[in-house]
Amino acid sequence: MNMKNIAIFASGNGSNAETIIRYFENRSDVRVALILSNNKNAKVLDRASVYNIEAVTFSKDEFYKSVEILKILKQHKITLIVLAGFLWLIPDFLLNEFPDRIINIHPALLPMFGGKGMFGMHVHTSVINNGEPVSGITIHFVNEVYDEGKIIYQATCPVEPGETPETLAQKIHVLEHKFFPETIDKVLSTIL
Ligand code: GAR
Repeated sequence: MNMKNIAIFASGNGSNAETIIRYFENRSDVRVALILSNNKNAKVLDRASVYNIEAVTFSKDEFYKSVEILKILKQHKITLIVLAGFLWLIPDFLLNEFPDRIINIHPALLPMFGGKGMFGMHVHTSVINNGEPVSGITIHFVNEVYDEGKIIYQATCPVEPGETPETLAQKIHVLEHKFFPETIDKVLSTIL
């Protein structure tokens, strides 16, 4: 059977990355082959080393101006790129090499509360300040505009009276950990 290889791009903590690694840990047909980060101090790199997964870090210049990243992805025969808390816009050369093969998770119900600068706690603060009764997660394909690619899956949670950005972030992480790995699995099953 052909092994399907996932590359995860993450900038920070990496709780989603770890959940994805664990979900596929005992599978013979899919594996997380590579973790890539723009942040040398990201906790996701420690998590990668615990699971013996190769990790690569890069600067902004390396990410946007060089084909080095592409070379590494090709060496690892990457089937699908997963953005799990990755904050930089994906350059065209990657979009062209991986058409409909790059997916992102966003901690709100797109098309609301998306776009440049809308990440992590900024998103939750805006949702609460806007008086939204409901928030949630969006898993979507990545295109050349932040948070505007085709939506694959959404799940919701209530925003309750007294909710803070921190409590909302916790609820959103529960949804992400529950639904992101299985959504990735479903997308992979459509790729031959
Ligand atoms: C997640 O909540 C993810 O949705 C968000 O960053 C967090 C990363 O958490 N992504 C964005 O805001 C992208 N715009 P993690 O590092 O614990 O997986």
